[in-house]
Amino acid sequence: MAKQQVFRLPQRTSIHDLQVYQEDIPIPSSNEVLIKIKNVALNFRDFAVATGKYPFPVKDDVVPGSDLSGEVVSVGSHVDDFVEGDRVIASFDLKTLSGPMCDWRHSLGGCYDGVLREYIALPSAALVKIPSGSDLSFAQLSALVCTGTTAWNALYGCSMLKPGQTVVFLGTGGVSITGLILAKAAGATAIITSSSDEKLARVQKTYGADYTVNYKTTPNWSQEVLKITNGRGADFILENGGAGTIAQSIDAVAYGGNIAVIGFLASPPERMPDVAALALGKGAVVRGIMVGSKEHLEDVTRFVTSKNLQVPVEMVFGFSREEVVKAFEYLVSGQHIGKVCIKVC
Ligand SMILES: NC(=O)c1ccc[n+]([C@@H]2O[C@H](COP(=O)([O-])OP(=O)(O)OC[C@H]3O[C@@H](n4cnc5c(N)ncnc54)[C@H](OP(=O)(O)O)[C@@H]3O)[C@@H](O)[C@H]2O)c1
Repeated sequence: MAKQQVFRLPQRTSIHDLQVYQEDIPIPSSNEVLIKIKNVALNFRDFAVATGKYPFPVKDDVVPGSDLSGEVVSVGSHVDDFVEGDRVIASFDLKTLSGPMCDWRHSLGGCYDGVLREYIALPSAALVKIPSGSDLSFAQLSALVCTGTTAWNALYGCSMLKPGQTVVFLGTGGVSITGLILAKAAGATAIITSSSDEKLARVQKTYGADYTVNYKTTPNWSQEVLKITNGRGADFILENGGAGTIAQSIDAVAYGGNIAVIGFLASPPERMPDVAALALGKGAVVRGIMVGSKEHLEDVTRFVTSKNLQVPVEMVFGFSREEVVKAFEYLVSGQHIGKVCIKVC
């Protein structure tokens, strides 16, 4: 039987627990598609899984990674919507085709073996076909999966972003920069924060952020957002900090605005703010985001490919164990702007 290279985590205490195995290439069942994986995009979640810090269930000996792009190699006997050679990406959560995710038990690289391998067989219902005219690279396509779905969900999953509205993005990671390119293409004004002036200058030049705020040198960054918006506040905030930044996000949001609670990157404060009272005082929607559905992935893929938006990939590493460990280390070093990827073949 033909073999493939597969990464697994027999233990989950450090990224150095990653081990490489030779395993059989799977045979797709009647409703499945066999995909030759071309590229994998990393998320902070994959590091949390590898180091035992992920707060949701993970299967034993998991293959990490949720975000792939690849090419169809063969299809099961009941599959009639994909053919050999189609370029595809797969939904983060294999079960949620539309509507909210109802648990964390059906995601790749969590309770299901993930994508850090050369071949995978997945249900055709979980796949999104890339239009043949798109010249986005396999790295850019894989980078759309978790962060693209999340950013789209934040901007369109509850209230819909309108042209002319203002969106604030916390930090310059994958979710922020992907959200920024979507918001700019939709005619919104983008304000982005970072701990680094150098990163802010690059984001402004490369991705067209309208306003930038350094949250280290301007710790009261919400006041700056209010100044920029003439006291009105932002219509949407992509809240990547969590407990440590939520109070300022509510300060910075417009009355009736939307805060998408996505990440947990900032250290929690000594005393947790009264989020209920603050949200009530602003009539704000404070909405937790659980990635999103296949429908969100289809929507964001259609938008990005039809407008040829350049999905922000900062660095692409190789598929040897040494390179994969380096990719994880680079991601957690925080040097990146946008996404970190691994070229599988
Ligand atoms: N809820 C969901 O469904 C979902 C989906 C995807 C991701 N997430 C989570 O969302 C967060 C962002 O994900 P990502 O993929 O964009 O991560 P990432 O690429 O690793 O982004 C990290 C960046 O966040 C910024 N950051 C760190 N601390 C910050 C703080 N106190 N205030 C503002 N920005 C801060 C830093 O930007 P600068 O270097 O510019 O300061 C850092 O480089 C993570 O916590 C991730 O686990 C959640």
